[in-house]
Amino acid sequence: MRADAQAQPNIALIKYWGKRDAERNLPAVGSLSMTLLSLQTRMSVEFDDTLDRDRLEVNGEAGDAMLQRVSRCLDAVAGKDRPRAAVRSTSNFPIAAGLASSASAFAALVVAADGAQGSSRDTIALARLAGHSSGSAARSLFGGFVELSAQEDGIDAGAILAPADWPVEIVIAVTEESAKPLGSGEAMTRSAASSPFYASWVERQEDDLAAAREAIAARDFGKLAAISEHNCLKMHSLTWTSRPPVVYWNEGTLACMQTVRELQSVGHAVFFTIDAGPQLKAVCLPDAAASVRDALDATPGVTRTMQSSLGPGARLLQA
Ligand code: PMV
Repeated sequence: MRADAQAQPNIALIKYWGKRDAERNLPAVGSLSMTLLSLQTRMSVEFDDTLDRDRLEVNGEAGDAMLQRVSRCLDAVAGKDRPRAAVRSTSNFPIAAGLASSASAFAALVVAADGAQGSSRDTIALARLAGHSSGSAARSLFGGFVELSAQEDGIDAGAILAPADWPVEIVIAVTEESAKPLGSGEAMTRSAASSPFYASWVERQEDDLAAAREAIAARDFGKLAAISEHNCLKMHSLTWTSRPPVVYWNEGTLACMQTVRELQSVGHAVFFTIDAGPQLKAVCLPDAAASVRDALDATPGVTRTMQSSLGPGARLLQA
């Protein structure tokens, strides 16, 4: 009754920010993302009748802070009367720092838990289960460019372009290694309740999704850059204008934005996006990747950079 799975985080270009239904964790808006290749989470789930409670180990240490969310996710996959489970997770990148570690973790968790039970579900069913724990995790079930649509009664999600059909590179500039001060769920709820811009954010999201979808279909990098940066800055405007405000950026984040502007001004195909943390993700065409990485490495406040191309969705690993 053990299975191992691997998933990669995804980076949203058109962001999920806001919940339609907090109880069921349903997003208020659709979103569009890219699944990475070289940042990875591996998860092993072993159901064991002899355990008196679930155990969670994250990167070799007891993961008690996350245990409740993990147990709830296992209940959703295997039912409340399931045997208790020993869960082990390892990631090769910083967790809880705005690098979408919850996305890869819950995507890998549902695949491993389903696998440990005999793999009865298809990908969309697994995506819905993952999305219940972390909205963005639903997208990591799929590879390449992925769109998630938000409907009244649930989500739909699927790949819209495979990694090989439009190779792009992502350079991640890490400006802070430790965990973020406020989780995305709480910050979203605060934005919905108090930002004066929230209603217009929800209303305009379909337009942004359509523009991104068209840019991807046409492999139009400039168009994708413009709509992605616009959508990212709108999401952060919601957090800045929440009460009390939530500011995820630090000085390094702003310095990285300036670096991306300078690279753009000399003709490099690159744009930025930022999630619920201070790290900046620079998306670029492969030709620009070396210059982008060198420039971000040299930017004040950057502690290190990581690079990835696009990768596949979550999957079972052979034992
Ligand atoms: O899935 P969550 O609850 O970790 O929220 C993700 C929020 C953002 O990363 C900021 C945006 C997104 O679409 O991934």
